[in-house]
Amino acid sequence: MNNNRREFLKFLGVTSYSLAGISVLESLVSCQSISPNTFPSLEDDLILADGFNYYPLISWGDQINKYDVFGFNNDYITYKPLSSSELIMWVNHEYTHPLFVSGLERTKENVDKERRLVGGSIIKVKKIDRKWKFQKDDPVNRGVRGDTPMTFANGVKVKGLNTVEGTCSNCAGGFTPWNTFLTCEENTHKNYGEHNRKTGKFKKTRVEWEKFYPHPVEHYGWVVEVDPDTGKAQKHTNLGRFGHESATCITSKSGHVVVYSGDDKENEHLYKFVSKNNSDFNQGILYVANTEQGKWLPLDLELSPILKKHFKTQLEVLTYAREASKVLGATELNRPEDIEVHPHTGDVYIALTKSASKDDPFGSILKVSESANDHSATSFKAETFLFGGELSKFSCPDNLAFDQNGNLWMSSDISGGAIGKGKYKSFGNNGLFVIPTSGKNAGNVIQVASAPVDAELTGLSFSPDQKTLFLSVQHPGERTKDLSNPTSNWPTGNMPKPTVVAIEGAELEKITQRTK
Ligand code: FEO
Ligand code: CA
Ligand code: CA
Repeated sequence: MNNNRREFLKFLGVTSYSLAGISVLESLVSCQSISPNTFPSLEDDLILADGFNYYPLISWGDQINKYDVFGFNNDYITYKPLSSSELIMWVNHEYTHPLFVSGLERTKENVDKERRLVGGSIIKVKKIDRKWKFQKDDPVNRGVRGDTPMTFANGVKVKGLNTVEGTCSNCAGGFTPWNTFLTCEENTHKNYGEHNRKTGKFKKTRVEWEKFYPHPVEHYGWVVEVDPDTGKAQKHTNLGRFGHESATCITSKSGHVVVYSGDDKENEHLYKFVSKNNSDFNQGILYVANTEQGKWLPLDLELSPILKKHFKTQLEVLTYAREASKVLGATELNRPEDIEVHPHTGDVYIALTKSASKDDPFGSILKVSESANDHSATSFKAETFLFGGELSKFSCPDNLAFDQNGNLWMSSDISGGAIGKGKYKSFGNNGLFVIPTSGKNAGNVIQVASAPVDAELTGLSFSPDQKTLFLSVQHPGERTKDLSNPTSNWPTGNMPKPTVVAIEGAELEKITQRTK
């Protein structure tokens, strides 16, 4: 599809909105209190629009308890609220950069250091004197890391083992209705490699963890549930094995917990798990989407008997979910990343970041409306909410969050090597955007932040009162080749450090606070 067609469709998408307006945001946009001249930027700084400010909450290397430091490349953020001013926060640490954390030489000692810095951190965060502060010595603080022992839920054994060593490639995640964290294993083939089931060929990694820890590759690529209070972690085979970006939970009208998850790989799929009940994931059905036909296809040997030609057991179907999805004719999508459910309409928004093979360099945001607005339905309608591109002023949508007024917040992930170049030139560094989904500005994209050099803004998470947005600044200076000459020196002025920040300000409150 060419760009004009893309923008024309975007125009159609926008004008089809007719929901009630959001007066505060409309006046905010119309009086242009968010300066349009601030962006785009290629500056090595976290730049915010007028009326927004930030302060750092915690950075890579900060001691969280006697044994653990805050890991590298902070990503997804969620929390269990203890009160409006006290949170048990979970932060993913997606991957490391050996040059910064260990050393380029592939020794066991270096690999061990890296495994200690991925996974996630549980940290206590409190609001004191109107600022959120990390509580250094709180007993709840702990790392759940690449070497932390855990199990498969429900007694399941994968490759003959119920126990598994650690979690890695923790991208986005979710929060269950029973107050536990979900962390998603995405690109685990980059940690432990991948077997081709048909040819038996093994694809090695660059980081060579498998050299020292030749674990079954099938032990990774799952959704991991973490108990906020104890740090106890279990991997859920029922939610399937693929490059899980996120695991967004919602309880359906009929009382089933539904988990939406995208597989962030070129030409892979959109999934949802419908749990039998509303208190665990131990029984239920994993579906994959055919977005052209609007059908959820069950990845289940009994409900889709054609799978029996390719798989002997249901665990095999779940373990090789990508292969099973292709057998069922699931739609190949342009790298599904984060997923969020609109708090008013129930529509499901999915970031499709881009596709090289389908000539889609800027990506789009897909909207799925479940039949009868029931999240456990087996049919739906899908349409594009917004296309990326020069007209919409964003490219490569990745992380999403809704505020309580139904505004969609989105951060972009143009890869470091492409930022500021060629077709990506006009977008500047990666950014944070807010997009009204109703009223006369529905679909208008307003940029509110620009990231430091090479960085991506991830993990969008609003505080309980929505007056603060917690945000991960991930991989600043990622393209650094020489530590004495890093490509970014944010936020220290010297060495780049992945950091979680708290964003606040009068303009943020105008957008997120209830107007009625
Ligand atoms: Fe970890 Fe798909 O981003
Ligand atoms: Ca992502
Ligand atoms: Ca990304």
